[in-house]
Amino acid sequence: MNSQSVDLIYLDPPFNSKRTYSAPIGTKAAGSSFKDMWTWEDVNEAYLDKLVSNYPMLVDFIKSIQQTHSKAMMAYVTYMTQRLIELHRILKDTGSLYLHCDPTASHYLKIVLDRIFGKDNFRNEIVWHYYNGSNSAHSRFGRKHDTIFFYSKVEKNSFFNWDISRIPYEEGSIYATGTTYGKKGYIKGNPKGKLMHDVWRIPSINNMAKERTGYPTQKPLALLYRIIKASSNEGDIVFDPFCGCATACVAAQQLGRHWIGIDIEEQAAPILVQRLSDDAGLFKNFIHRKDVPQRSDIAPEPINQTIKERLFAEQKGACNACAIELNIQNFEVDHIIPKSKGGGDYYENYQLLCGNCNRIKGNRPMEYLRIKIAQRDKLLKEQITFG
Ligand SMILES: C[S@@+](CC[C@H](N)C(=O)[O-])C[C@H]1O[C@@H](n2cnc3c(N)ncnc32)[C@H](O)[C@@H]1O
Ligand SMILES: [Zn+2]
Repeated sequence: MNSQSVDLIYLDPPFNSKRTYSAPIGTKAAGSSFKDMWTWEDVNEAYLDKLVSNYPMLVDFIKSIQQTHSKAMMAYVTYMTQRLIELHRILKDTGSLYLHCDPTASHYLKIVLDRIFGKDNFRNEIVWHYYNGSNSAHSRFGRKHDTIFFYSKVEKNSFFNWDISRIPYEEGSIYATGTTYGKKGYIKGNPKGKLMHDVWRIPSINNMAKERTGYPTQKPLALLYRIIKASSNEGDIVFDPFCGCATACVAAQQLGRHWIGIDIEEQAAPILVQRLSDDAGLFKNFIHRKDVPQRSDIAPEPINQTIKERLFAEQKGACNACAIELNIQNFEVDHIIPKSKGGGDYYENYQLLCGNCNRIKGNRPMEYLRIKIAQRDKLLKEQITFG
């Protein structure tokens, strides 16, 4: 990605010691044990050079983590450092970064951020207090918060919408009731509420939540709305390099921002596509078979045998998704854009699918079906190779 190309970065990276051990720090180090990973020769050369020449103090600090904590933590912090350097590079001068983590590693990550972004560009340590859910701790207080570090790239240039997200005044506050008479005369609260503090009380996603996708570690949209509204404008680019089930992308889309999401987990892809279609209205105009705009200017052409034959000829007797070749009577005519999503009854919106593909697709966009097929093919290939 180009330097200075995105306006806002939100990242919610994993902290999973098993995976951290095998985190791919450099191509050659991938899969190696941690000790090997920390041999300089085993790590991506270009990245190491950059780290040693641009951040010598950081290298010393990272090395010290082996003594203060563990080798695993050192590996994790290295993994994060490499990515934070790149994230800093692609951020615009007016941009901001929000790093979502928890007390397991937050104290180490803050030092890394101080060095990469500059300690003067530290804006907030946001405490997300997810007060709901049970508390089973008996040897300590319940752990009910995550930490979100907010840094700007260049303090004096950074964009911050300080007035946008206000929250209600506390009950009993003199401002809560509107205009009241105080010692120094009339006091007037802002009707939109008070300016936000750095402690955010937002419930976590529970089993009943409407937005719940089932993806583990899914974050609430409410949290992302605050971040996106505060640190970006409509039309800006929001980037989430660990997007999971795309909470940040959905929030960005709903708020009229552009977005980029990356996730390494293949299982996240179909959830993401489904969610962006259902919650953010995307892929509604997605046409696979032919690149034509949606038509509302022509009379409906109900499905009939002639249409089926035209499609059969055009698709050369193959399913438009999985490419299986069947006799014409075994194909079903499908609306590429489902009727329930606004697709019409016209030739350009029809395709022939085999029964199997049509069942998988249901009234979802083609993107979903394609990913499902790719996953199935991969599984089949593995079974053939290893079975
Ligand atoms: C804590 S979850 C993010 C959840 C997300 N904020 C949401 O609301 O759904 C961390 C994500 O990072 C992904 N991940 C792990 N290693 C990665 C890597 N090297 N590159 C990209 N994504 C990665 C995981 O698959 C996981 O989905
Ligand atoms: Zn098919």
